[in-house]
Amino acid sequence: MEQAYLENGGTALLVDLRDGDAVIVHWGDALPAPLPDAALLLPAVPRSNFDVPIRPSLVPQASRGWRGAPGLSGARDDGSGYSPLLTVRSADATATRLDLELEDAVARLRVRIGLELDAHGILHASAELENASDAAYRLVGLELALPLPARAAEVLDHAGRWGREKQQQRHGIAHGEWVRAGRHGRTGHDATGLFAAGTAGFGFGRGEVWGIHLAWSGDHRHRVERLGDGQTVIAAGELLHPGEVVLGAGERYTAPELLAAHSTEGLDGVSARFHRMLRARPTHPRTPRPVVLNTWEAVYFRHDLDELSRLAETAAAVGVERFVLDDGWFRGRRDDHAGLGDWVVDADVWPQGLGPLIERVEALGMRFGLWVEPEMVNEDSDLVRAHPDWIAGPAGRRSLEWRHQQVLDLVNPDAFAHVLGQLDALLSENQGIAFLKWDQNRDQTELGSGGRASTHAQTLAAYRMLDELRRRHPDVEIESCSSGGARVDLGVLARTDRVWASDTNDALERQLIQRGTQALIPPELVGAHIGPAHSHTTGRTQDLSFRAITALVGHFGIEWDILRASDAERAELAQAIAYYRDRRELLHSGRLVHADDRGPSSTVYGVVADDRSEAVFVVAQLTLAPDEQTPPATLPGLDPARRYRVRFGLPLDERGVGERGAPAWIAAGGELELTGAALAVIGVPVPALLPEHALLLDVREVR
Ligand code: GLA
Repeated sequence: MEQAYLENGGTALLVDLRDGDAVIVHWGDALPAPLPDAALLLPAVPRSNFDVPIRPSLVPQASRGWRGAPGLSGARDDGSGYSPLLTVRSADATATRLDLELEDAVARLRVRIGLELDAHGILHASAELENASDAAYRLVGLELALPLPARAAEVLDHAGRWGREKQQQRHGIAHGEWVRAGRHGRTGHDATGLFAAGTAGFGFGRGEVWGIHLAWSGDHRHRVERLGDGQTVIAAGELLHPGEVVLGAGERYTAPELLAAHSTEGLDGVSARFHRMLRARPTHPRTPRPVVLNTWEAVYFRHDLDELSRLAETAAAVGVERFVLDDGWFRGRRDDHAGLGDWVVDADVWPQGLGPLIERVEALGMRFGLWVEPEMVNEDSDLVRAHPDWIAGPAGRRSLEWRHQQVLDLVNPDAFAHVLGQLDALLSENQGIAFLKWDQNRDQTELGSGGRASTHAQTLAAYRMLDELRRRHPDVEIESCSSGGARVDLGVLARTDRVWASDTNDALERQLIQRGTQALIPPELVGAHIGPAHSHTTGRTQDLSFRAITALVGHFGIEWDILRASDAERAELAQAIAYYRDRRELLHSGRLVHADDRGPSSTVYGVVADDRSEAVFVVAQLTLAPDEQTPPATLPGLDPARRYRVRFGLPLDERGVGERGAPAWIAAGGELELTGAALAVIGVPVPALLPEHALLLDVREVR
């Protein structure tokens, strides 16, 4: 096979397979016939260079003249095998999939690559290395690279910290390497999620964008590299620690799956491909995403059956559907110094077990959820007292503590079986537990098991535990939480039902955290809760309308002591919940779009139904606007030819309006009819909002 052409969902890959190499020549829009002959597309040889043209192979190799980071690195104990020359031994292609076997017969290494374009245009790229020698091979890294054309001029990724995850950052692509590496022993608060490159000035709705994501919850990197000759690759792979993966005879290493999407419709176009792909999974939640009340910011460790029962009653009265008991229910857990590792109900705090609370919650028509952190231990726990050697880390000493806790060595089969057994018993004895908030609250930069680095094996063990629990309890939904959003990736989402985007419920912070998180993950999988008026993480005070509208585009919930809310607040809350319940089918199935014409002080975004018959848009003021007159909210993504009626989805919060009078259409009754074309370019005049206020526009086609 000289070349392979894959096409699906409007995206295509053209792979040149001559001379034993495998080089992607085109990754982008589908190409109309006749297909180019890749042999004729080879570039010329520059001066002072290798004597043949050099291009990035799928696994870039020094032996093929690649002077950037190699795709496969490692060596044997005697130093041999350091520079593999991989040759394609077999290629199997269908219209949408290419399977390659490459081999270096001298270095005795084999690499299997799978490239599959799914119906949503997402490229699923997998790679596996096999050691075909009797001598051990010490792997440094295995990573696939995708080429970017010269017109890819800027890179956009996300960075962050605790309480402020997934903040966009962007800059021009220049000669050199831009690497976003995570060495946290978990995905990390600063993990990029979606990592994208695009044409100059690309935006949410404009420009050509190539986005990638590594589906992995351990150490990893995403990177763009432009060499001196101008060739550019975008790549991602697992970061391995020294000695972590040593392959014996016939042993294999499987790289985490690399997912990649291209769109000529900007960042939102790439996000839409990921969202559609995730929604099409057989494991994607099929039931309406229930309104959650999580007890954390309401009661913290203050667990009291009576108070929690009253909280549940109030929750049910405003329309909550899932009541989640957070941290503090298990043995010895009076604060965050003790208890992790002992997954049995604390008999002092819960003398009759969790049964009475679960029954109360169910009698009120809600389902019950519970917090766990199975991968962690406190020194002050019965588990560590009995098995001090079950703590992960280097031999002979303890790693630094973080939140007074250590990581349980799940690579140790006894430790794994012990915790799995406790969780299994918990779920079997309390059949009412319909949901687990599965937390993971520390970085571990030197994970180890049996004296060697174990981040790779620990990550796989955590996956195995999630998989096994789901197999035994298929009806229990699981949330991936990690001190907020430190484990938000498509590896963990393959075995969980939503992610917790951040520990901050401050709606101002949440606006941008959710935007960054939802660049990859659709709103229904991203937990978004209304916190207390006075934010516990930032100290800011925000009106309920802003908090509620911010939580609407997500998996909506509450994390606030509503026993202490006023009657007016509860009524407003009930109204927001009713709106969410009414519109969640749209919010959780439509296309997420963002207006490109706002500066950093405000944001306009919404969800448009797939058939474009309706939409919900949020206009949020983040800081004081630079202009006295607020620009109209342009609403992208509707059908230009159809007519729509725009109204407020929730009543306008007059406290948030900073000007006299109202735009004419509001003064005239609060209904505006415009075509999709007019909405996209003229927009809806909106009142000047004060910072940290938002309004909600409900859009329906007029037939
Ligand atoms: C982490 C989570 C929070 C909460 C606490 C409980 O910080 O991210 O939501 O569950 O743990 O200890």
